[in-house]
Amino acid sequence: MTTVSTAITAQDTQAFKTAVREQWDRSADGWNDHTSEIRAWLRQASDAMLDMAGIVPGASVLDVAAGAGDQTLDIAQRIGPQGRVLATDLSPGILALAQKNARQAGFNNVQTQVVDGEDLQVEPASFDAVVCRLGLMFFPDPLQGLHGMHRALRPGGRICAMVFSRPERNPCIGILMSTALRYAGLPARDPFQPGGLLSLGKPGLADELFRAAGFQNVATTALDAPFRMPTANHYLNFIRSSASPIQQILGRLAPDAAAAAWAEMEDRLGVFKTANGWVGPNELLLTAGQR
Ligand SMILES: C[S@@+](CC[C@H](N)C(=O)[O-])C[C@H]1O[C@@H](n2cnc3c(N)ncnc32)[C@H](O)[C@@H]1O
Repeated sequence: MTTVSTAITAQDTQAFKTAVREQWDRSADGWNDHTSEIRAWLRQASDAMLDMAGIVPGASVLDVAAGAGDQTLDIAQRIGPQGRVLATDLSPGILALAQKNARQAGFNNVQTQVVDGEDLQVEPASFDAVVCRLGLMFFPDPLQGLHGMHRALRPGGRICAMVFSRPERNPCIGILMSTALRYAGLPARDPFQPGGLLSLGKPGLADELFRAAGFQNVATTALDAPFRMPTANHYLNFIRSSASPIQQILGRLAPDAAAAAWAEMEDRLGVFKTANGWVGPNELLLTAGQR
């Protein structure tokens, strides 16, 4: 049986969050610059996430770990002028881009708040829906975050969170991580380590956490979301510009060693080359529930 407690030690937590905030502040522009690729990659999964969260015109929606706000704009479109969406994130740098993107797209129903998703500062029972796209797995204590999301929802309100599934279904992440660790002379890591990319990919764990936070009607759907890029190098450019743990590990190496690691990754990722470009397998989990 999986365990509900996934927290790292208390003294590590603050340092971890500070590092995450700084990494996303630094990578904000890079993530935002890749919006069109991210949009294409997550199109189907994002639509399913908004459906499962029951987002309809006029709804009041909390978007946790909103990043540069790609899904926030989809929400703003769905809820229309009578609705409102509050986009929140730990990183002020990336959230400023969400605000800017919403303004440029002409939405007046988007607000932003810089806040830790594990310590949400919102009125209890004030939202019809909560979403969290590719953010919850970065929380060192996702259960604490889910408790806050549960409190934020009105009774009957819905939540849907998107995370990466298990390692076998996400071989690109495995290739990147194992190569980076080897070049850095570091031992292999538990892929389910709290706060890591695949931390919520262990089968059954997300459901268990949602139920422990008080959600009902909990269900997880796995969705194929392959990366379709012209070449493996395009995928690596995306990884280089986001705040991935790979980037953190290789960032500590001498430039020559880091370059050799990136070259080996490109070579190993070549296995996913097809007649129609590069297609990196990737699976996501959508976990939904109701207060
Ligand atoms: C992969 S990005 C996803 C952004 C956006 N949801 C999207 O799908 O485009 C992960 C985001 O999680 C945010 N994040 C990480 N830890 C967080 C935390 N404890 N509280 C709130 N946001 C957090 C990061 O700042 C970053 O913006």
